[in-house]
Amino acid sequence: MNFKTGMAAAAFTLSLTALPAFAGDPEAGASAFQSQCQNCHNVVNEAGDVLAGRPNVRTGPNLYGVLGRQAGTEDFRYGASLVEAGEAGLIWTAEEMVPYLLDPNSFLRETLGNNRARSQMSFRVRDEDTANDIIAFLTQFSEIEEEEEAAEGS
Ligand code: HEC
Repeated sequence: MNFKTGMAAAAFTLSLTALPAFAGDPEAGASAFQSQCQNCHNVVNEAGDVLAGRPNVRTGPNLYGVLGRQAGTEDFRYGASLVEAGEAGLIWTAEEMVPYLLDPNSFLRETLGNNRARSQMSFRVRDEDTANDIIAFLTQFSEIEEEEEAAEGS
């Protein structure tokens, strides 16, 4: 198999197995989370174990299980726009979260079709690769990962 068909086959296999379609590296995502997200967010499971970040960080919502979850539904005082987007059906997937991380305000404006929508997250990830890495990292703490593992095991 030459390089081109090899790549095509690999891409095809990826598109079949890697749902949702992210190409991120969870280890790079772990360090990016540490340097870029954990000032405001942590990942704490139902038992109260801190899986990433530091305890008692409350500037942003807990990101445990965020992939596959309706936006704006943690125990947190969200901005109205994010809650509205969630109520309108926004479920966090990699496809939605990449543009959100790159530009939260624009993402909410587009999602809600409202130029006055605003995000309370005053932070942007600089590039799509980093966003995908962080999402791959966060996916490890989400139901989506468990469903994928279950699907792989069957
Ligand atoms: C300066 C603080 C800050 C930083 C840094 C930050 N966030 Fe946020 N984040 C927030 C706040 C505040 C919200 C709530 C936004 C709102 O209510 O509009 C939020 C919301 C979110 C949400 C939506 C959660 C939900 O429950 O719907 C995700 C996902 C998210 N952040 C991911 C990240 C990631 C990943 C990083 C690192 C790349 C990051 N954030 C960096 C403050 C921050």
